[in-house]
Amino acid sequence: MAWFPPVRRVATALPLLCLLMAPATLSTAAEGPYTPQFDKDDKLTFPAGYRDWVFLTSGLDMSYGPAMRMGHSMFDNVFVNREAYQAFKETGTWPDKTTFVLEVRGAADKGSINKNGHFQTPEVMGLEVHVKDMARFHDDGWAFYAFDANELTPKPAEQLPVEQSCYSCHQSHGAVDTTFVQFYPTLKPIAAAKKTFSASYLAEKP
Ligand code: HEC
Repeated sequence: MAWFPPVRRVATALPLLCLLMAPATLSTAAEGPYTPQFDKDDKLTFPAGYRDWVFLTSGLDMSYGPAMRMGHSMFDNVFVNREAYQAFKETGTWPDKTTFVLEVRGAADKGSINKNGHFQTPEVMGLEVHVKDMARFHDDGWAFYAFDANELTPKPAEQLPVEQSCYSCHQSHGAVDTTFVQFYPTLKPIAAAKKTFSASYLAEKP
């Protein structure tokens, strides 16, 4: 039997609830499903609403070789658009128009009541995007972009040249379709169940 709350309580709680939820609900409805937008010069418009997308992980001081070691701590936060996340849950791979944002933030170690460990600071130090658009990118369907994190609204960015190491590292080490699903804790088990890991990842897996 379904449980119905007493009528009076609903009547007083509802308007308050609507009031609290209104701004968030309105902005999501207005945005609709995300599709990457390119301007007339083929530059990608920065996906300004990415903070409302699905959060996949935070990496702390991840580095892939001695050259990438840095003097200070940083977090990277990875987000993907909601439609792509839903599709991944069903198929274990990424649909056309999937868009990721990797946001780099400073890590601080002492502040307020914190004595140990690290927390994130408001300062954004990097904004990188990975987009799948099969009609536009004929190689494997993916392209990388880097935006200026110092701008309040970053200007549209040009595609990073395919010779850059972004492409080769993601192609040879990303667990699913050039993306690093092995580091995304809610997605790795889905890819394992759907058997969508790339051959190169399976070959190098320890
Ligand atoms: C040596 C390997 C390597 C190189 C080179 C590299 N990345 Fe990545 N990238 C990673 C790893 C590992 C992750 C997962 C990060 C995490 O778990 O926090 C990642 C994640 C990402 C993501 C999140 C979506 C995804 O594809 O999984 C973006 C966006 C991204 N990188 C952009 C870039 C850009 C832009 C460049 C080039 C300027 C670049 N990367 C170069 C290893 C690399």
